[in-house]
Amino acid sequence: MRLCEVCAVWTLSVTSLACGVWSTSATSWEAFERTDTLDVPEKRATVEQAPLYFHLSSGGNENYFYRDNVTAAQVLFTSSNSTTTVRRFVTAMPAGNSGALLYFLPLNASASNATGSPLDVQLVNSTLPLAHTVETWGNVGVKGQMSFSADAQLGVAIIGAVRAMRDYVEGAGLMHEIFNYTLQSYNSTHFRLHRPWINGTKALTVELQTSSNLWFNITPGNNGTYTPPTVEIRLNNSVQPGIAGWKVVCNETSLVGLETEGLFLANTTSNNTALQTALVGLNNGSTSTAQEVSFLTFANKFTAGGWRFLTYFGRDSLIALRLMMPLLQSDAIEAALGAVLERANTTGALCHEETIGDYASFVNMGNNMSELGNTPYYDYKMIDTDLELLPALAHYFVDLPQGQNRSAKFLATNATLQNGTYAELLKRNIDYNLARAAPFAQTPNVTNLIGLREGQPVGNWRDSNEGIGYGHYPFDVNSALVPASLRAIEALSLSGLIPANYSPVAGQYAGVWETHSASFFEVNVTAANATSRLQTFVSQANLTSALLSGNGMSANDSASFYALSLFEDGRPIEVMNSDIGWNLFYGTNVDEAFLTQVVRALQPYPRGLLTNIGMVVANPAFDSNDTNVYVLNTGSYQGTVVWSWQQALMAAGIARQLKFCNSSVPSVDINPSPASPPAWCQSFGLVQDLQNAQVNLWQAINGARSEIFTEVWTYTFDNTSNRFSVADLALLSPTGTESDAIQLWSFTFLALTDPTQSSSLKE
Ligand SMILES: *[C@@H]1O[C@H](CO)[C@@H](O)[C@H](O)[C@H]1NC(C)=O
Ligand SMILES: *[C@@H]1O[C@H](CO)[C@@H](O)[C@H](O)[C@H]1NC(C)=O
Ligand SMILES: *[C@@H]1O[C@H](CO)[C@@H](O)[C@H](O)[C@H]1NC(C)=O
Ligand SMILES: *[C@@H]1O[C@H](CO)[C@@H](O)[C@H](O)[C@H]1NC(C)=O
Ligand SMILES: *[C@@H]1O[C@H](CO)[C@@H](O)[C@H](O)[C@H]1NC(C)=O
Ligand SMILES: *[C@@H]1O[C@H](CO)[C@@H](O)[C@H](O)[C@H]1NC(C)=O
Ligand SMILES: *[C@@H]1O[C@H](CO)[C@@H](O)[C@H](O)[C@H]1NC(C)=O
Ligand SMILES: *[C@@H]1O[C@H](CO)[C@@H](O)[C@H](O)[C@H]1NC(C)=O
Ligand SMILES: *[C@@H]1O[C@H](CO)[C@@H](O)[C@H](O)[C@H]1NC(C)=O
Ligand SMILES: *[C@@H]1O[C@H](CO)[C@@H](O)[C@H](O)[C@H]1NC(C)=O
Ligand SMILES: *[C@@H]1O[C@H](CO)[C@@H](O)[C@H](O)[C@H]1NC(C)=O
Ligand SMILES: *[C@@H]1O[C@H](CO)[C@@H](O)[C@H](O)[C@H]1NC(C)=O
Repeated sequence: MRLCEVCAVWTLSVTSLACGVWSTSATSWEAFERTDTLDVPEKRATVEQAPLYFHLSSGGNENYFYRDNVTAAQVLFTSSNSTTTVRRFVTAMPAGNSGALLYFLPLNASASNATGSPLDVQLVNSTLPLAHTVETWGNVGVKGQMSFSADAQLGVAIIGAVRAMRDYVEGAGLMHEIFNYTLQSYNSTHFRLHRPWINGTKALTVELQTSSNLWFNITPGNNGTYTPPTVEIRLNNSVQPGIAGWKVVCNETSLVGLETEGLFLANTTSNNTALQTALVGLNNGSTSTAQEVSFLTFANKFTAGGWRFLTYFGRDSLIALRLMMPLLQSDAIEAALGAVLERANTTGALCHEETIGDYASFVNMGNNMSELGNTPYYDYKMIDTDLELLPALAHYFVDLPQGQNRSAKFLATNATLQNGTYAELLKRNIDYNLARAAPFAQTPNVTNLIGLREGQPVGNWRDSNEGIGYGHYPFDVNSALVPASLRAIEALSLSGLIPANYSPVAGQYAGVWETHSASFFEVNVTAANATSRLQTFVSQANLTSALLSGNGMSANDSASFYALSLFEDGRPIEVMNSDIGWNLFYGTNVDEAFLTQVVRALQPYPRGLLTNIGMVVANPAFDSNDTNVYVLNTGSYQGTVVWSWQQALMAAGIARQLKFCNSSVPSVDINPSPASPPAWCQSFGLVQDLQNAQVNLWQAINGARSEIFTEVWTYTFDNTSNRFSVADLALLSPTGTESDAIQLWSFTFLALTDPTQSSSLKE
């Protein structure tokens, strides 16, 4: 829950900018004077758009996605074959991050029969399962028909803010009275639930109407808006299902979607065959994954995923953008970069999550700032997001053909969510990152590393206390993201996008961070300890010692790897992990020692990270504190589980490094090689080991090829075959967090090529 945090609050009424010191005589920034106009924050959907519609069965839900020039929505119904008695109907709309969550229960539980669920509620799969609807007062949304297999009653209903719906499903039924809905009108043939926003005049309405074979028996609540009405859905006869028409509408401004034609490059004239192959079926939307990415992207922001995250998240936008960037068109890339800059705070920190719509009022009130009404609330608690913009922006403008001759216009753009040009917002982030990197660059010791923000248990993509083993200094932020951000400043400066005097200082800082930061995280385990810890681990984790031999592994090897994070006093959390992928993906001068650790990490699990169904993101096998074996287990969100985009990052990173030695290595992305190949290219043994590691990684990836466009999965282990199988994390996880049918960063494999197979990753 993020309700009580007193974080920086952003006001739209800011008129003066607290600009950082801009110590330069260069003119490239000054060319972009800002003008003091505040445009409307959201763009209304007016351009003509063919409807985008698709259906996905996932996580026990039937998910329907619809978007046209009027509205966009994801609609979910509990799958027919689900064993739950309670049926759920969810609508989520990116406009205002608004929606509705309704539960239906069987009216007469005793009517249930032992062979099936007593109630099924489904979308009627007609020729037009979903359509937009335009109502009075600027209300737009989706409509369809739903079928009831038996008499039902309305259970809990959360109407209005998707964040309030999330609180309910993620917070064990947490509800806030302030979000109570009202029964606006009803009779036996219809009922309408209404939710006017706390502030302002916008509202969301859900309506059900008799279509055939059912009627409503409704008794309003007897205690104002507090007590919910009793709503019964009665079938006229039980031979056939009852059918009701439904509508969910809201008068938040709809967003303009990016259609596949405006999002992905068409086949290019580039001679890069890996890129050409990756692009097949994307621009014309004939590949379903292209449509799924399209659904999540808009002309003014990328959203993170369905249905709980159909709004702006900085980290998700930037990771997905950077990995998929080689496939994307200029306007789409600039939409995502612009969205990040628009939400920077005056210090130059970047926003993790935006809170908009009705829930923004709630957060503002919780911060004792109710005078802000429903002004969006932006949170700045993460420490990685700040560092992920510049590498993406520099890659676009400096390396990629799409970014050529685009920077002047982009940087001159006036922001719409605050005052200032993109150039000014960019400068803030640059100055902020440089200032944060300076202490370590001057004195490289532990306390000058970048730690979690005060009072925050999280800060990087491993978004939980457990995820970073309760540490304070995350490995990825310090060893990879800070140097990457500094190298990006250097590259932007050298290519003339920002003043020339940035390059020497950024380059010097980067050098210190690259040389010193990773070494604080080094963990070395003697052969004796490694052997005994592995033996203990296989028994604690219900694996078998057969996993410890074979594959050229010796039973008594020592182990070394980079820690997941450090405690405040510098002690490492001795968990092997996949974040080394960041260094490979961003670094141009990764050294031999680091690559040796990569080769070690890409051994079979539990000695390394690779299982036959993918690369786990954390492996606590060697940890001298064996409580982490249980903290980071197969049911833990960032434990011994597989995240698809982490595999993509690792695969992209290895291909990038190998290409520095041999330009014929296939790669979808375009990464200019350093002036001279890295020194390690002369170590033929290491190059060979890295090539083998790449093959092993892809073997692991291909062991669960059908999962690569899903977000995360875990394993079960069969101790007779010694094989791992894919398992649903939502089912194994103690918190049971439901999985999402689509997440933006789960599509990053689209921008990769499999060096071990000729078939396309899309097949
Ligand atoms: C949406 O597009 C349709 C055709 O696809 C067009 O008839 C309609 O006027 C458009 N509506 C808006 C609001 O632009
Ligand atoms: C339930 O049905 C969906 C299709 O609607 C299917 O994808 C899924 O595998 C089924 N689940 C079970 C447990 O049978
Ligand atoms: C019991 O439920 C199953 C599955 O929902 C259904 O096919 C069957 O007709 C039901 N039987 C009775 C007697 O209602
Ligand atoms: C809906 O109907 C279409 C064609 O009639 C079919 O291809 C599709 O699988 C159906 N969807 C569901 C969820 O039943
Ligand atoms: C109003 O809020 C209370 C407390 O969260 C909840 O129990 C009740 O069901 C809500 N009523 C409506 C109509 O939303
Ligand atoms: C129920 O209300 C609707 C809308 O107000 C009206 O059109 C309809 O005639 C009413 N039906 C009955 C049975 O009262
Ligand atoms: C939004 O719709 C509601 C009805 O649901 C209406 O009362 C309100 O005035 C509308 N607001 C705007 C800004 O049109
Ligand atoms: C009636 O509503 C008030 C809030 O308006 C609530 O505090 C109270 O608990 C409710 N009483 C009952 C019996 O539900
Ligand atoms: C893409 O274009 C290149 C030439 O620019 C051509 O050789 C290649 O066949 C094209 N690929 C596809 C899938 O159309
Ligand atoms: C591919 O194109 C790039 C730039 O367009 C060029 O530098 C390179 O030599 C070409 N490679 C081949 C194999 O034609
Ligand atoms: C928003 O609504 C709350 C609750 O009614 C109220 O206290 C606050 O003053 C309102 N803010 C504005 C700006 O209207
Ligand atoms: C911007 O966010 C950062 C990180 O949370 C914070 O340190 C800084 O004080 C914020 N700036 C303003 C002006 O609130």
